[in-house]
Amino acid sequence: MTSHSYQTALVTGASSGIGRAIAQRLIKDGLRVYALGRDAKALDALATGCNVTPIAIDLQDTTPLHDLFERVEIDVVVNNAGLLPAIARFGESDLADIDRMIDINLRAPLRLAHMALAGMIKRKRGHLFFVGSSAGRFPHPNTAVYGATKAGISMFCDSLRCDLLGTKVRVTEVAPGRVQTSLYRTALGAESANEKLYDAYRSIQPENIAELIATALSLPEAVDVSRMEVFPTDQAAGGSQIVSVE
Ligand SMILES: NC(=O)c1ccc[n+]([C@@H]2O[C@H](COP(=O)([O-])OP(=O)(O)OC[C@H]3O[C@@H](n4cnc5c(N)ncnc54)[C@H](OP(=O)(O)O)[C@@H]3O)[C@@H](O)[C@H]2O)c1
Repeated sequence: MTSHSYQTALVTGASSGIGRAIAQRLIKDGLRVYALGRDAKALDALATGCNVTPIAIDLQDTTPLHDLFERVEIDVVVNNAGLLPAIARFGESDLADIDRMIDINLRAPLRLAHMALAGMIKRKRGHLFFVGSSAGRFPHPNTAVYGATKAGISMFCDSLRCDLLGTKVRVTEVAPGRVQTSLYRTALGAESANEKLYDAYRSIQPENIAELIATALSLPEAVDVSRMEVFPTDQAAGGSQIVSVE
């Protein structure tokens, strides 16, 4: 059972992977969940028989959410939606992909936080979660823009905590390594992603991330878990590359 007074949560990217697991966990913990994604069918399936309101929208345009924040007191926002459309050298990346990553991984979470904070500060209650990535803390080849968006989220969280000092609003960044989801379905193809990333490895499961979020929420409101970096036991980040001069 939870020890906090939060009653409502908005979870983005709730139609699959980490977001769906988080939504399911928060429902189990008794919160009313507003579940956001583009895939209306997947959201409806999540909502069947549960305390869930599906919101089928594309986060490219966040304006429809103004109405939600005006109508409903949202206590918890989990900014989780994100994408990695291709694994490619920066110079060979599609410009539209670059823009989409900036829009969904960085701009949308900032906009949602802005919308949520007015009410949270007034009510002196609220918790903002941001799902970043180990890619925002360690360089990975061929994902420069993805890494930049996640690094942006990470520093935003640190700075936002400074701005929110004294408001009682909590901010938590979750920065995972490899989680077994469909994130790489576009970049690698679903089957190839399983083969390359998951079949021979032990990855974090989405439910593990949901457990971490539930734990951070359940701590006394005077305690803010500011960052949770989590890797599979079998994954390590770091190292360097060197090439010889021709
Ligand atoms: N999997 C990993 O190894 C890993 C590691 C570190 C961090 N992360 C981060 O974890 C978060 C969740 O990803 P995941 O791994 O669970 O992948 P996923 O299964 O592909 O989930 C991504 C979610 O984002 C939503 N989304 C994408 N574009 C959207 C848009 N334009 N508008 C609204 N929603 C959109 C998707 O919903 P619709 O398709 O319905 O729109 C989906 O629910 C992402 O921020 C990702 O960067 C993942």
